Amino acid sequence: AYVVAEPCIKCKYTDCVEVCPVNCFYEGANFLVIHPDECIDCGACEPVCPTKAIFPETELPADWSEYKALNTKYSTEWPNIAEKKAALPESEAYKDKKGKRDELSL
Ligand code: SF4
Ligand code: F3S
Repeated sequence: AYVVAEPCIKCKYTDCVEVCPVNCFYEGANFLVIHPDECIDCGACEPVCPTKAIFPETELPADWSEYKALNTKYSTEWPNIAEKKAALPESEAYKDKKGKRDELSL
């Protein structure tokens, strides 16, 4: 499955949900996750994310390895999101920021 990692935090551009053929994105306050059992590994979402937050799990950077479990857990707790909406107001300021893990709202 594909995994959403740290760069999505405080951005949530949602271009990804618009291209997913199986609608397997789930929405938290400032982050999205992918349901690993619903994702069909089509790869459509990876290139459209403005923050480059999405990776195949086999290519997830080691620093962000915990995001695999975070996607698994929160995709069963957060509501589905299937339509693109406005990015968060702080998205441009946070788009290239590193070390946003502490700002993730769970
Ligand atoms: Fe959806 Fe395809 Fe991305 Fe999986 S890889 S989340 S199926 S767009
Ligand atoms: Fe997040 Fe990128 Fe989607 S910023 S909401 S993973 S387009």
